[in-house]
Amino acid sequence: MDLIEDLDPEEARAIVDPALNLMIDAVHRYDGYVVQCTGDGVFALFGAPVAHEEHPQRALYAALRIQEEMRHYSAGLRTAGKLPIEARVGANTGEVVVRSIATGGSHPEYAPIGHSTSLAARMQALAPAGSVAITATTRNLCEGFFSFRSLGPTKVKGVQDPVEIFEVTGLGPLRTRLQLAAGRGLSKFVGREQEMDALRLAADRAWRGHGQIVATMAEAGLGKSRLFYEFKLISHLRWLVLEAFSVPHGKSSAYLPLIDLLRNYFRIGIEDNEASRRAKIIAAALALDRSLQDEIPYLFALMGVAETETTLAMDPRIKRERTFEAITSIILRESINQPVLLIFEDIHWLDEETEALLSLLMDGIANASVLILVSYRPEYSDKWSNKTYYTRLRLDPLGQENAEEMLSTRLGHGEQLAELRGLVVSRTQGNPFFMEEMVQMLFEQGVLGWQGAVQLLKPIGDVTVPPTVQSVLASRIDRLPAAEKDLLQILAVIGKQFQVSLVKQIVSEPPDELNRMLRDLQLAEFLYEQPAPSEIEYAFKHALTQEVAYNSLLIRRRRILHERIGQAIEALYAGHLDDHLSDLARHYRFSDNAPKAIEYLHRASRQSTARSAYDDAIMSLQQGLALLDHLPAGPERQRDELELSTLLLLALQGSRGYAAPEVERLVARIERLSAEGADPALLFKVLYRSSTFYFVRGDLRRTRRMGEELVRRAETIADPDMLCMAHELLGGALVWWGDTALARLHLEKASSRSYRVALAYLGWAQWHLGYPDQARASVDRATQSTEKISRPYTVATVLGVVGLAYYLLHEYSRMLELAEALRIVSRDHGIAYYQALAAVHSGAALAGLGKTREGIARLTEGIGDFTATGTRLVLPYCKLALSEALLKAGQPELALPAINEALALVEHNGERYLEAELHRVKGEALLSLPQPEQTAAALSLERAVAVARDQSAKSMELRAATSLAQLLSRQGRGADALIMLTGISAWFTEGFNTDDMKRAVALSEEIALQCQAQ
Ligand SMILES: Nc1ncnc2c1ncn2[C@@H]1O[C@H](COP(=O)(O)OP(=O)(O)OP(=O)(O)O)[C@@H](O)[C@H]1O
Ligand SMILES: [Mg+2]
Repeated sequence: MDLIEDLDPEEARAIVDPALNLMIDAVHRYDGYVVQCTGDGVFALFGAPVAHEEHPQRALYAALRIQEEMRHYSAGLRTAGKLPIEARVGANTGEVVVRSIATGGSHPEYAPIGHSTSLAARMQALAPAGSVAITATTRNLCEGFFSFRSLGPTKVKGVQDPVEIFEVTGLGPLRTRLQLAAGRGLSKFVGREQEMDALRLAADRAWRGHGQIVATMAEAGLGKSRLFYEFKLISHLRWLVLEAFSVPHGKSSAYLPLIDLLRNYFRIGIEDNEASRRAKIIAAALALDRSLQDEIPYLFALMGVAETETTLAMDPRIKRERTFEAITSIILRESINQPVLLIFEDIHWLDEETEALLSLLMDGIANASVLILVSYRPEYSDKWSNKTYYTRLRLDPLGQENAEEMLSTRLGHGEQLAELRGLVVSRTQGNPFFMEEMVQMLFEQGVLGWQGAVQLLKPIGDVTVPPTVQSVLASRIDRLPAAEKDLLQILAVIGKQFQVSLVKQIVSEPPDELNRMLRDLQLAEFLYEQPAPSEIEYAFKHALTQEVAYNSLLIRRRRILHERIGQAIEALYAGHLDDHLSDLARHYRFSDNAPKAIEYLHRASRQSTARSAYDDAIMSLQQGLALLDHLPAGPERQRDELELSTLLLLALQGSRGYAAPEVERLVARIERLSAEGADPALLFKVLYRSSTFYFVRGDLRRTRRMGEELVRRAETIADPDMLCMAHELLGGALVWWGDTALARLHLEKASSRSYRVALAYLGWAQWHLGYPDQARASVDRATQSTEKISRPYTVATVLGVVGLAYYLLHEYSRMLELAEALRIVSRDHGIAYYQALAAVHSGAALAGLGKTREGIARLTEGIGDFTATGTRLVLPYCKLALSEALLKAGQPELALPAINEALALVEHNGERYLEAELHRVKGEALLSLPQPEQTAAALSLERAVAVARDQSAKSMELRAATSLAQLLSRQGRGADALIMLTGISAWFTEGFNTDDMKRAVALSEEIALQCQAQ
């Protein structure tokens, strides 16, 4: 307040105190809370400590009222010969934390803390005397409801950039949210066919002189106003439409909606002074019916026209009655000329006086052409349901289809936004207002933008509750009795759904009382009961209500509650905590108890990994690792970090591929961590997991070294399982390396203890070394074992490895069958690596079965996906299979580049297992060219034989020798060919039924015959 400086203090008080009272009254009128009353001003909050819908508007209504009252007051001072005073009002909107302070009085006092309030104080200081200054935030929330004038960007203390300030100059044209929405462009009207039919039916009856009332009941935002709006559109020409709107703070001002309605009827605008108002009222009433003459004076008081002496002197009750009668008569008389449509919106906010008039009107319309439409939210209970001409419509949320349609008109039908549309529908559960606000917020945050069509410009991220929705929901919650509000907040911390037995553990209320409160919350439509097998379970009706209730708690209190809920779950489900790990992890994560959170995140991630739910595991582990930062450094933290990282590695390998880039980064981190010496068993695990990365990355030298190291460590720890793991890994690496003889030794050790992957690899080694029957037996055993293994990851690994063995054994039908099994298991569990390998296997098998075109397509696709997982291992096999398929399809010129690529990889990575085969196929390809390159082919085939001999790879030698022998005999060197071929065939002690052996024997016989003939 600006006071004249040189007043003596007593005189000043006498002037200021009434002004302060008038300000306090204005604040209270709009449900504000006076935090502080300084010597010459007040500081008030709107929307806190009790939330109110449209709190920014309330603040501005109060501000304007203060200024208006101050003008009157000042004018009075002036007439009394005193000096006038002026006030400055400032406002801002934002979050505050409201602390309650015990002051010893019967009510707690609240002290807000936060940047928002200091900004409001700055606005006050900057406001021109006699005006209201606000920030852009408040202006944006009140746009349309008030009019503003920019005061330009202004430097404000405590804020870096200049802040744009606005002066509130008066009321704006808008009264309701729907009008605001209409300004933005209304969404396409969807659904509500039955309700529209009901309205039409009522309108028909009213039209024919049987007055009707239709009430629409629904929660905020479900479309009551919109339904009326649509109905008005189709009927306004034939009806005289009169509307009355109630506002959230309406209960404190009598007759407001009624006054609005009458002003519309008499066409009185703000520009009309008292005289013109009076004239308009009299003219309209008399034009309608001369006999109304006596009724007219009763309307004056309501319309701000000086009363006549008769009405002034009247008993107020009688005057009220007459006033009501006057209004009723006018409406009924009007309905004779033209049917009247009266709309009373939001009557849950209606003041008692207007409500009384409405009741009277409703009684009087039974035989008139009047249709009354009222709307209200569920917290109101109407009193007219016994009337025969009364219909109540209850609006439900929009169904999935309508909700989608409504969103599509705003966001388009594009695939890109399909996920977002689904998200908005599910978060808002089909409440059109919430949907619109959420979309609007996404545009304002720049998540959505217009580029020819609506586009997603940023990742969706966390979609928060828009402030407009927040205030609707928060005020609903705040209207609950204190104990129920407390309960609702606790429930929100527990989660979207909860069992009553758990709630009992957490709250102190006796069970009967708790049940009653839960029932009440259910009746108030906050919760609903869910069918559950054993006991009663409740769920929040709206995810958004849960979120708002949750956020209304201070962080400190939330943390305490989360911990209490964690403890309650531990106590209640002590015997089967495994069923509640993710809940426990969540509650402790948001409590102050980081060690417990880490423990449960760890357990939850193990469980997810075991179920091959890798993405869940990854999330838990990353959360756990993030929490570790809150713990003091030391050996314990190091251990936890190593353990979590190792599990994360496993999960990442599962979902993204063994050798994906994320995996590589993690391996580097793990290596840094483990250098500092930790528990040997843990270090073994760490080393083992990272070696799988190098393995698949194709770094066989390093894998082999790590495998040897692992064997040594396992021997020191003397853990049989670790030994098997180490032998399995080293054996596997040696197989790829091409040293199958040494590999066999390790794999035999591992496979003795039912290590199925080792068994499958053993099959490879055995085949390579010239024991195809033993190989088949091992591979068959490994395959059969997958029927008994429940871990999808192991199943996939075994199937992946045996696939290649059947390829070498030329058992393509079996291979195809297993490739399909591999595809399903890896698809169902999101194992990218094996999903790609399954495609490669099935392509190879199809080509083997003669379906070369299909096979080549599948192979090409599989190889692409496979490479994308970061793997370098196994690629020589993929390319070998592809080139064999191409060769079979008569395309040797395409097969050759694939082979050469594979051979380059062999050289680079040392993956020599298939080397001899690659040279052999290359030789065959060279021979199949339109102009066969015999010399080069001979070189390749000789190389194949030499490599196979060098590796003691008898089966490959047999194949290579067969191919070479064929060429030699064609070149007239039958004798050499025969010696070579019989030499290798004679070595074999088993496998006489294989394709390879049969071909070798047949060829030997053929060459022998030729030689004899010469
Ligand atoms: N059936 C519908 N089709 C398309 N849009 C709708 C539909 N119903 C409501 N809307 C839109 O949703 C928003 C909220 O609707 P409306 O204002 O009618 O809700 P309400 O029930 O009157 O809420 P309140 O209780 O807060 O007044 C409006 O912008 C409206 O245009
Ligand atoms: Mg409405």
